[in-house]
Amino acid sequence: MSGLSRRAFVRAGLAAGVGLGIGVPLGLGASGSASTGTVLRSGLPLPTAFTRPLPVPPVLAPVRRDASTDHFEITQARAMVSLLPGVRTEIWGYNGIFPGPTIVSRRGRTTVVRHRNLLPVPTVVHLHGGRTPHDSDGYPMDLHPPLSTTDYTYPLDQRAAALWYHDHRMDFTGPGVWRGLAGFHLIRDDEEDALGLPAGARELPLMLTDRSFAADGSLRYPSLDPTLTMTPGVTAPYMAGVLGDVMLVNGAPWPLADVDGAQYRLRVLNACNARRLDLRLDPGGSLTQIGTDGGLLATPVHHDHFELAPAQRLDAIVDFSAYRPGTEVTLVNDFGAGRMGEVLRFRVGERAPDRFRLPDRLSAIEPLGPPVVTRTMRFAYEGASRGWTINGQGFGTDVIAARPALGTTEVWRLMTDFHHPVHLHLNPFQVLSRGITGPGEFDAGWKDTIDLRPAEEAAIAVRFDGYRGKYVFHCHNLEHEDMMMMANFEVV
Ligand code: C2O
Ligand code: CU
Ligand code: CU
Repeated sequence: MSGLSRRAFVRAGLAAGVGLGIGVPLGLGASGSASTGTVLRSGLPLPTAFTRPLPVPPVLAPVRRDASTDHFEITQARAMVSLLPGVRTEIWGYNGIFPGPTIVSRRGRTTVVRHRNLLPVPTVVHLHGGRTPHDSDGYPMDLHPPLSTTDYTYPLDQRAAALWYHDHRMDFTGPGVWRGLAGFHLIRDDEEDALGLPAGARELPLMLTDRSFAADGSLRYPSLDPTLTMTPGVTAPYMAGVLGDVMLVNGAPWPLADVDGAQYRLRVLNACNARRLDLRLDPGGSLTQIGTDGGLLATPVHHDHFELAPAQRLDAIVDFSAYRPGTEVTLVNDFGAGRMGEVLRFRVGERAPDRFRLPDRLSAIEPLGPPVVTRTMRFAYEGASRGWTINGQGFGTDVIAARPALGTTEVWRLMTDFHHPVHLHLNPFQVLSRGITGPGEFDAGWKDTIDLRPAEEAAIAVRFDGYRGKYVFHCHNLEHEDMMMMANFEVV
């Protein structure tokens, strides 16, 4: 089974005989300017919205705990599951489910996850948002072959946050995640506990993924269709990103969640390959942001909508007691056309006891010290032969774009041509500016992925600490990533 690999990409581009960048809108035209990518249509009727109950991924129990460490085990396997009514779908899943089981860790305790690979291909597991030693970070070439067993060690000396783990195989992250290799990994700590945030059934992890299905219920991805990798002009649009036409939340299409008339904590993850989301509650209501990729904000921020690019997380409080019992509250996506304009529906029940009071202060966010170095990283399409690049180069394991010294702070100026959600491994960052203005309204707190728009320039500050070694940073549009929009930094 081949991916939408960079080799196919280069071949297709050359066959087309022209640079994709010359007058070709890279799919921007068809889907509006909200996402860089092209919709892959499903070959079956789309299911009725808001009938399936919202599933919540199971929390994984450790197989063993000792004084300092919690040990988990996961088997990566194919499974036939029911995602859409009336058909069965083969997924690749952690423990054979999609999303994978949720891992919950405590700051200061080490987590070891033993992954056994029963898939027909090599895999790599990356803990997105993890401050992880190089040898457990899931470097894209650290491939674990079928039938191998690998221990990933996560010290997790970092703030409480919603991380996620996903496949990171060189050139094949897009199809791997599309088939189901993604799960939540939540970190808890004392600071968060002290806030008494909504918990248990009132804390909902929501993994949002768009997908496309063939008539027989199987997942569609461009590489699975040989005509798409052979025919110039058909292939090209998907090089900019694959957009699905079915919205899944925790693996269920447009689900329905029954909620109490009380406050809920929604932990939203955009796990789409390429689709950007603009989330809003209909008929109105506040998405009160308390956290982001790297954990709690300093203070809550009320939003009437929230833009979320691939890999980004939103931690929000929604107060369902503000609605009359029986109200249906829909989480909509204002970047989505047609059916993709809706995500999930909540059906509000009776008012229920709720002791949570939103505090004015949530956390302390330390400002990063003055940078020792400023670097520029330019994310751009460089024509058919070179593809998606960073500073004019496609990914190579020996291409080191930066060698920050351990413990130092740097400012990186990021420049783009199209939409590129840029992600750094190892350390979170703070957004300093966009263009000549300050950070955007969705940029607050510690980020690990910044949503860069076309022809934008932003500055981020990052302190490289924790571990020495070679790590990647890349565009988290997974089709761009697979087609070489990735580079290394080496902490020395
Ligand atoms: Cu979520 Cu290197 O990625
Ligand atoms: Cu990452
Ligand atoms: Cu990109």
